[in-house]
Amino acid sequence: MLKSTLLAGLAFLVNTPFLGAQAAPGCTPKTFTNPVLYEDFPDNDISTGPDGAFYFSASNFHYSPGAPILRSYDLVSWEFVGHSIPRLNFGDGYNLPATGERAYRGGTWASTLRYRKSNKTWYWIGCTNFWITWVFTAPNPEGPWTQAANLGGGVCFYDNGLLIDDDDTMYVVYTYDGGKQVNVTQLAPDGLSIARTEKVLVPGQVGADSVEGNRMYKINGTYYILNDHPGSTAYVWKSASPWGPYEGKPLADSVASPVPGGGAPHQGSLIQTPRATGRRLPHPRHQRHQRRLGHPLPAPLPAAKPLNFPWTRSYAFTALTSLPPTFEWNHNPDTSKYALSPDTGLTLSTASVTADLYAARNTLTHRVHGEFPSAAVELDVSRMADGDRAGLAAFRDRSAYVGVHRDGTSLQIAAVFNQTIDEWSGTTLDLGTLKQAVPLPAGTKKVWFRASMDARASGDHKARFEYSLDGAAFVAVGGVYDLYTGWAFFLGYRWAVFNYATKALGGSVGVASFTVA
Ligand SMILES: *[C@@H]1O[C@H](CO)[C@@H](O)[C@H](O)[C@H]1NC(C)=O
Ligand SMILES: *[C@@H]1O[C@H](CO)[C@@H](O)[C@H](O)[C@H]1NC(C)=O
Ligand SMILES: *[C@@H]1O[C@H](CO)[C@@H](O)[C@H](O)[C@H]1NC(C)=O
Ligand SMILES: *[C@@H]1O[C@H](CO)[C@@H](O)[C@H](O)[C@H]1NC(C)=O
Repeated sequence: MLKSTLLAGLAFLVNTPFLGAQAAPGCTPKTFTNPVLYEDFPDNDISTGPDGAFYFSASNFHYSPGAPILRSYDLVSWEFVGHSIPRLNFGDGYNLPATGERAYRGGTWASTLRYRKSNKTWYWIGCTNFWITWVFTAPNPEGPWTQAANLGGGVCFYDNGLLIDDDDTMYVVYTYDGGKQVNVTQLAPDGLSIARTEKVLVPGQVGADSVEGNRMYKINGTYYILNDHPGSTAYVWKSASPWGPYEGKPLADSVASPVPGGGAPHQGSLIQTPRATGRRLPHPRHQRHQRRLGHPLPAPLPAAKPLNFPWTRSYAFTALTSLPPTFEWNHNPDTSKYALSPDTGLTLSTASVTADLYAARNTLTHRVHGEFPSAAVELDVSRMADGDRAGLAAFRDRSAYVGVHRDGTSLQIAAVFNQTIDEWSGTTLDLGTLKQAVPLPAGTKKVWFRASMDARASGDHKARFEYSLDGAAFVAVGGVYDLYTGWAFFLGYRWAVFNYATKALGGSVGVASFTVA
């Protein structure tokens, strides 16, 4: 499941999709450099849509909406399209209940997305909570997406890949028994229930103890399964029949990462492009083409349509009527507790009474971008209530924030570091330590925050926070925060804007703008 392409084992997973291009004969001389997208999109499943564009489905675990979708016309430039799972309706844990289990690391794991020509329908299939395999469908990648079926309790298509055969039969390949066995299931004609299941291979056939990240393809009449041993090796298997027997061999073994300090690329997808016979792995890259980060490679396809979704940008919430897909909530939001308006921008009303950032609903997150990401947010704090905490966090299973604390009638800037949950269970271990507090003048209405980090695998893993009272002069606060690099949370740091109550609901903050750079 750990889809981490690159920084596997490093844990401060900025999961960067890579393109492994076999230099295509007759290709344009245009070049690109890896990684093609320096962001956290684990478990890619890339396929071609009816418009000839490429669609990239990824995991995002407990973030809502779930299962992000990206699009590209040239396999190099990507834009955010939407999500396959509008809301994580997989149990109350996904709503951050005040008591009881939360869904950290639940939700979407390695899953699959395909377009089915025969009924012009997109299918997303994935297993949640190690228990139920869901099918979501949509007429377009942008949606609307429908929770169409579950394939029955106890049937977990772990790390699954969908193949829609030439005769329209739908096959799904997946791992079970902790990665020690691989099954192929044929779905019923509507794709919404199981017709037949066979065990088709065991990783022991290639000397591996487990495999994950399964994909299935039919190329020139032959069936291929692509999967990987976590952290090291990609395998390819072939058979004349979808049911086997499959013969396997390593496709890429312990390939050096093109990102300094990154793990071996090992999980990916195969794409057949119209212009060349060469197949391409957005990652892992082909062994014969070991390239350093920054080393230009020939572009696999000519640049097609320009994309209109820049990865770094400023969002003026006063001009928006809905949240762009680049934003994801920590667990499902309470939709009655946020609103967009031309006057205030985004209003975040407190949605939880808690002392725990990880128990607070309606924390809005955005991925970090590139090697040295930063974020800035402009907050109206004039409607905060006694006991409220609002601000900007570097967020994962160990977090740090700079924010405003209101206690009684006084406001202060507060830098709080090391809010921690157990990376396996999601249980809160540490509410964080107040590193610095700066009293604010009475009547302060607006506060700006900035945060920056070194997100390189080989970097110093430091984050820094600043505040400003005029949006121009920023003051460092809290000192330097050491970013955590454990791997078991499966996702890297994000920026997060939060507002929660420690005493009673009723307060709110206005978020006028949010900038990712
Ligand atoms: C096409 O997809 C829909 C899901 O939107 C499904 O309900 C329907 O049965 C499918 N039709 C066929 C012929 O498979
Ligand atoms: C995989 O197939 C085997 C053999 O048919 C079966 O015993 C097992 O239950 C299947 N596993 C899943 C998760 O469907
Ligand atoms: C496809 O299969 C045919 C028949 O086996 C073979 O002659 C041909 O070379 C194959 N094409 C490719 C691209 O592998
Ligand atoms: C952060 O919190 C965890 C859990 O309480 C603790 O083990 C760790 O030492 C703390 N780190 C720092 C730098 O305080």
